[in-house]
Amino acid sequence: MEIELSCNSYAFESLTVEPFNAEPPRSALISSYVTPVDFFYKRNHGPIPIVDDIESYYVSICGLIENSKDLFMRDIRMLRKYNITATLQCAGNRRTAMSNVRTATVAQEEKMIMLSPGLTSYEMQHAVWSGAKLADVLELVGIPNLTSVTRSGGKHVEFVSIDKCKEENGGPYKASIPLSQATNPEADVLLAYEMNGEAQYSVVALFLVVWATSCLNPVELTSWLTLNSNAYSKFFLSIIMPKPLNRDHGYPLRVVVPGVIGARSVKWLDTINILAEECQGFFMQKDYKMFPPSVNWDNINWKSRRPLMDFPVQHNTETCWLTVRNLLTRGRECDEAWKADPQLLYNLQAKVSGYAVSGGGRGIERVDISVDGGKNWVEASRYQKTGIPYIADHMSSDKWAWVFFEVIIDIPHSTQIVAKAVDTAANVQPESVETIWNLRGVLNTSWHRVQLALRDVLSTKIMCLSLIMMFTGLLKLL
Ligand code: MTE
Repeated sequence: MEIELSCNSYAFESLTVEPFNAEPPRSALISSYVTPVDFFYKRNHGPIPIVDDIESYYVSICGLIENSKDLFMRDIRMLRKYNITATLQCAGNRRTAMSNVRTATVAQEEKMIMLSPGLTSYEMQHAVWSGAKLADVLELVGIPNLTSVTRSGGKHVEFVSIDKCKEENGGPYKASIPLSQATNPEADVLLAYEMNGEAQYSVVALFLVVWATSCLNPVELTSWLTLNSNAYSKFFLSIIMPKPLNRDHGYPLRVVVPGVIGARSVKWLDTINILAEECQGFFMQKDYKMFPPSVNWDNINWKSRRPLMDFPVQHNTETCWLTVRNLLTRGRECDEAWKADPQLLYNLQAKVSGYAVSGGGRGIERVDISVDGGKNWVEASRYQKTGIPYIADHMSSDKWAWVFFEVIIDIPHSTQIVAKAVDTAANVQPESVETIWNLRGVLNTSWHRVQLALRDVLSTKIMCLSLIMMFTGLLKLL
């Protein structure tokens, strides 16, 4: 076992090294519909394992089935490959805001758990995952599609990982989903071996290889290829094949459960167990559960709550100044414009944009924006791919994916921008974080608020200007 830090740490806002946790700045997240791998958040509970020998790597399928089976990567790659576009979201996304609510009253132990290991704010990302459907894999061991109970009484599918974590007393990370979901092809649960379908080759590298080979004379080439055919074909294939999963994100194989909190998408898959009961691991039974605000560390009863699965409707907002930015950054020129037309101050506009997503494959019906604390709302436009209109729950839209939104809005004065998303089942984000506070700090889906810091900057300007005017007035009087 080794820890590997492969992220570009400059791109990340908060980072813990052991276990390795990192998240990108919010603006990076909305810079493209599919998140570049470098901007993926990383959420780990133990050291990242390194699987070097891919030829001998296999996944065991066992438990309440008639015939257990070991599947090598080549067996999994033989199955039909699916590309599923899905947003992964940690249940602790926006936890920072939730821990701010009650830090004054919580016990020391509680504080430590609330704030560790990452000050999570933006643990969300969006990728095109490629691999075999779990439903197809389970068919190989005799479990037909749409099965909810196996003949031997199996009702849950447990995923056991290679990595070890202290919460499991040094045992592997694990989680489970219901068999009915695992065997439903429409649920799109994947055993993914590629991410974002990125090919490794650059056109230049490919050209160089072909050119170098063609430079050899045919006789030399034939004898060289006979001697090195294995190495050459491996090298050539590695140039033209799509990139495998990144090590941080589960190489060589991870589970992707779309629409469900990230904790169930187990990385570095080792074993698939068919069980009668759901997985009894720490992260199913003693974490990633949501309790009412009255529950604290003294009265908590873990068994009273079910493990979190589908995530609720959620969004994040980003703002960008239009008129204001010009005013504030163009210095002298802007002062001239401002002096000529003081009304400019009152004609401010901001571009409000962000992403919204809901769990369980529910689309985004609306995103509402308010600049007066929620008294009046305007609807933002929504989009996923350029040129294709986004229609919630339509075949042309990515079912498991986030939806971008955007609106240009007049800002009357310094204010707080508020946004809320509504999904196709009419679920709306709750207004305040206080009402959904819970001691594990999960599922903070409250309205996102962005304070515009206009007042400070402008009031300083106005103060300076008034002082200058007063001073010049005084001089004139004298
Ligand atoms: N799988 C293993 N084996 N070990 C882990 O620590 N973390 C889970 C999940 N799968 C985890 C895991 C959690 S809590 C989340 S949110 C996602 O992986 C994060 O996936 P990422 O690091 O690829 O973004």
